[in-house]
Amino acid sequence: MNNPLHFTQILSTDLNNLMPIENACHSHPWNEKTFATCIGGRYFGEKLGEKLSETLNESQKVVGFYVGEFVIDEATLMDICVEPSEQGKGFGKKLLNQFIQQAKAKGALKIWLEVRAKNINAQMLYMNAGFIEKSRRTGYYPSAKGFGYEDAIVMSLHI
Ligand SMILES: CC(C)(COP(=O)(O)OP(=O)(O)OC[C@H]1O[C@@H](n2cnc3c(N)ncnc32)[C@H](O)[C@@H]1OP(=O)(O)O)[C@@H](O)C(=O)NCCC(=O)NCCS
Repeated sequence: MNNPLHFTQILSTDLNNLMPIENACHSHPWNEKTFATCIGGRYFGEKLGEKLSETLNESQKVVGFYVGEFVIDEATLMDICVEPSEQGKGFGKKLLNQFIQQAKAKGALKIWLEVRAKNINAQMLYMNAGFIEKSRRTGYYPSAKGFGYEDAIVMSLHI
């Protein structure tokens, strides 16, 4: 990335740009239809990218994105992804901070998320941001390796 990175709202026109990152980041990614239902309404999300054109929102080189849900006074982190070749450079932390700020601005008092028990990188990111483990859901996810199941850890943060 050579140019400054910006956060911009995720629109349905971004799906073509974001689906490859979604597919590269998860063993069981959202399909395009599911992703599309998580844009707009009670969902909010932003992508972090380098502007390649001053006018076209679509012409961005995107490093990552998040999708959140806001209901009454609580927000849930539905998805957060950093393009694999850009991981470990601080973009995940930036995305999570932006999600927390956006949730706060909407009036959220608490944030929830679920993370795979074996996803230590993501758990470290969340714990460093102050999230604490609240409960476990046994065998909640199909295993990332395609055999058996994996627990979900439910985490929350008061904001
Ligand atoms: C989780 C994810 C978003 C983190 O993004 P990232 O850009 O790699 O993270 P950052 O570089 O900002 O690192 C932030 C923190 O995450 C943790 N972390 C990230 N990579 C790590 C690694 N390889 N080992 C241990 N901790 C790691 C650390 O706590 C790190 O903070 P530190 O650098 O101060 O120690 C990214 O790995 C990703 O997209 N993973 C695939 C999708 C996914 O699992 N999403 C979460 C679903 S719940």
